[in-house]
Amino acid sequence: MDIFVTQPVPPAGLEIICRACPGCRVNAEERVLAHDELLEFVKGADGILALLTDRIDADVLDAAGAQLRIVANMAVGYDNVDVQAATRRGIMVTNTPGVLTDATADHAWALLFAVARRVPESEKYLRAGKFRGWGPLLFLGGGVTGRTLGIVGAGRIGSAVAMKSRGFNMRILYTAGSPKPQLEAVTGARRVGLEELLRESDFVSLHVPLLPDTVHLMCADTLRLMKPTAYLINTGRGPLVDEVALTDALKNGVIAGAALDVFEHEPAVHPELLQLENVVLTPHTASATIESRSKMAVMAAENLIAGLAGEKPPNLVNPQTRG
Ligand code: GLV
Repeated sequence: MDIFVTQPVPPAGLEIICRACPGCRVNAEERVLAHDELLEFVKGADGILALLTDRIDADVLDAAGAQLRIVANMAVGYDNVDVQAATRRGIMVTNTPGVLTDATADHAWALLFAVARRVPESEKYLRAGKFRGWGPLLFLGGGVTGRTLGIVGAGRIGSAVAMKSRGFNMRILYTAGSPKPQLEAVTGARRVGLEELLRESDFVSLHVPLLPDTVHLMCADTLRLMKPTAYLINTGRGPLVDEVALTDALKNGVIAGAALDVFEHEPAVHPELLQLENVVLTPHTASATIESRSKMAVMAAENLIAGLAGEKPPNLVNPQTRG
């Protein structure tokens, strides 16, 4: 059995793989493999442990060879994998839902507070030696308590973000494919259409998966629906937001600010965003707690080993491959 792991993952996951398959191959470098390197490395693999930064397309699946049985993605999102191409070839694809929900939702809150209360901007000012004493107009920002939080996509992570608002006494609006009775009962949340959510919310947090019809969900037109005092938070996927339109909106006061953990052309960031003060940027680290990354690695490894042992992996996203 041959397993290829595209980058070193937390040890708890690697141990599971190495125990089941002592000859497993792990790319030892902590960097994203170029696509042509990936095409080489996957040759002969029965299973691949992939990261969200690896584009697993039909070429990669074919380069691996007909023996490839499973691609275990160490992420809840799997837009980096061509699932249709995998399914056509009978290759299982798995993800890691649940174990990063709280970490990601916590980070959305970190970003929300950071942008509303201008934490990075004011810290930079202080470190630069510019603080001359308390000022009545110094770094005024947006309030959080009692405001309206709009959750675009109240799935696992979106719902967790909403649940965590309870201490801040917020009004919650959400979009979702179906009503969420528990969320409504606990938080008083109301399901609305996207347009109403954007018009009413003081904070808009994105949690829909990246699909053809969610690309540029936030574009010039939808950004214009938001209040000029509102903030956009994105811990989902970068292409949900048109970065050029967002940059314009931030420069022209269409919205008050944005906080982004993900980028349209990751790892590149629109150069003008880097210059703006009313945006907070983190390098796709929303799930980056020690516990959650370790659990993600274990979950991906368990999916991989189960699939290779002929069992149904617990987090199979294309069950059609099991006949
Ligand atoms: C992180 O972005 C994930 O999808 O797990």
